[in-house]
Amino acid sequence: MGFLSNHKKIERNVTLLGALALVTVMIGGIVEIAPLFWIDSTVKPVEGVRPYTPLELAGRNIYIREGCYSCHSQMIRPFRDEVERYGHYSLAAESMYDHPFQWGSKRTGPDLARVGGRYSDEWHAQHLKDPRAVVPESIMPPYAFLAARDLNATDMSAHLKAQRGVGVPYSDEDVEKASADLLTQAGMGDGDKADLERRYPKAQSRDFDGDPSRLTEMDAMVAYLQSLGTQVDFGKTRAREQAK
Ligand code: HEC
Repeated sequence: MGFLSNHKKIERNVTLLGALALVTVMIGGIVEIAPLFWIDSTVKPVEGVRPYTPLELAGRNIYIREGCYSCHSQMIRPFRDEVERYGHYSLAAESMYDHPFQWGSKRTGPDLARVGGRYSDEWHAQHLKDPRAVVPESIMPPYAFLAARDLNATDMSAHLKAQRGVGVPYSDEDVEKASADLLTQAGMGDGDKADLERRYPKAQSRDFDGDPSRLTEMDAMVAYLQSLGTQVDFGKTRAREQAK
């Protein structure tokens, strides 16, 4: 009974109880947090994940500017209904170069984490200009002005540098060629597509907005949407998991 009477002492002394509770909570905190300082990364790298191309990054900036995240999430949870509707659940590594991440917290519209390749470029351009033209019951607002606005492609090096500042591994060459890469991917000028794909594997280069004579915000937005969820080859990942 000695233990219990000692405990009584603690329970009747608020200061002692508070101090000992603090020590207990601190031990728990240290056990949880301290290991994170010694392991190289809490996010397991996955084959295929690469930083955004300058054109995709420009599209992503517009996505953030327009607040698309207020209606769309980009995070497929590991539940059967989600996986059946949207595809393989999202891996942490898939948003490791997303600063800030676009997981979102509200789904007025569907999750967009794997929308890349699901529709044609024409569908996306039409849908963004007038959602009800392709989905009659849609409540999404129209963004027709994206097709009318010229894309500002002159400051891409600065955007890449800012991303590099928060840990995205763009090389000096990537930063230097950022604006040229953007034009190459949008099918403007006579840039070297092979060089772009060497540094950004699976980058899709073409005119995205249906108007090859102009570089618009629609080009960037559609390029970004078409890239979402396409970096990791889940066919391959699954085969390897089964082989283990
Ligand atoms: C007010 C909420 C709202 C906002 C803001 C919004 N959307 Fe949507 N979005 C929806 C709804 C609802 C749907 C489903 C109906 C449809 O397809 O139009 C949708 C569908 C989509 C789809 C088709 C997804 C699929 O898998 O079928 C894409 C792509 C999309 N939105 C992109 C965007 C982009 C890009 C923006 C920002 C420029 C945006 N949305 C802003 C509500 C919204």
